[in-house]
Amino acid sequence: MGWDTVIEIRGLGKRFVGQDGGTVEALREVDLDVGDNEFLTVLGPSGCGKTTLLKAIAGLIGWNEGDIHIGGRPVRGPGPDRSMVFQNFALLPWATVLDNVAFGLRMRGVAKAERDERARALINMVGLSGFETKRPGELSGGMQQRVGIARALAVRPQVLLMDEPFGALDEQTRRLLQEELLSIWEEHRLTVVFITHSMEEAVLLGDRVVLMSARPGRIAEIVPVPLDRPRSRDLGALERSGHYVEVTAYLWDRLRDMHEEHSASRVSG
Ligand SMILES: Nc1ncnc2c1ncn2[C@@H]1O[C@H](COP(=O)(O)OP(=O)(O)OP(=O)(O)O)[C@@H](O)[C@H]1O
Ligand SMILES: [Mg+2]
Repeated sequence: MGWDTVIEIRGLGKRFVGQDGGTVEALREVDLDVGDNEFLTVLGPSGCGKTTLLKAIAGLIGWNEGDIHIGGRPVRGPGPDRSMVFQNFALLPWATVLDNVAFGLRMRGVAKAERDERARALINMVGLSGFETKRPGELSGGMQQRVGIARALAVRPQVLLMDEPFGALDEQTRRLLQEELLSIWEEHRLTVVFITHSMEEAVLLGDRVVLMSARPGRIAEIVPVPLDRPRSRDLGALERSGHYVEVTAYLWDRLRDMHEEHSASRVSG
């Protein structure tokens, strides 16, 4: 299989200055390559800088050291090659489902007839036909996140950035959306960076799992996932496979080691 790098991150460092004037080092010396069509999952403790990393790739925030290239071009801000799906859905509450999905196309000056047609096709793809004229407040969490995914895909991005998109959903809905996302990815061959708190989710979806360590956020290890593709049809069966059990056991061990190292360094430092 050919390996073309789409996202190239070198020496990325990011510090925040808080309200109290104190500095938080969110990311330190992050190096990461993400391949074309890769599904990369990112796992790490709360506050380790996952959202910060994703927002930097999206071009929504700046950074202090290093650089990020997408398709060979340096990231200087948001661009049509990248879309982000947020944990809290981040839909426009006053706009209909159709207008929410078409929003990015409108921003890009796509004519109304074309953007509505594209939005309808995506709404259909995420299983929300019939809900075009509803507002987000009239939808369940799972339905709102479907709208978020459709909206992100509407601009036909090369890179889809997802920040714990299913974290707020019940288990059944989460499983359905995981399988839907995989089948969309299998069909459209996007590059996905997917952040999650769930080790199970990281393994089920990812080609590789990036383990980040606690503050300052660094990449501790990258673990390849030895599960066959396509996986969209029956994630439940995959969860019972030997490879799945092995790789999750390995990740548990690594996370426990990291936790212990972190505790030890806090005691000594
Ligand atoms: N705008 C900001 N101003 C100041 N500090 C910030 C800001 N955004 C993030 N931070 C700090 O940077 C660190 C990393 O935050 P980030 O949101 O990237 O973590 P995370 O890994 O996404 O956490 P979680 O899993 O809880 O979502 C945290 O210590 C956080 O307090
Ligand atoms: Mg976060």
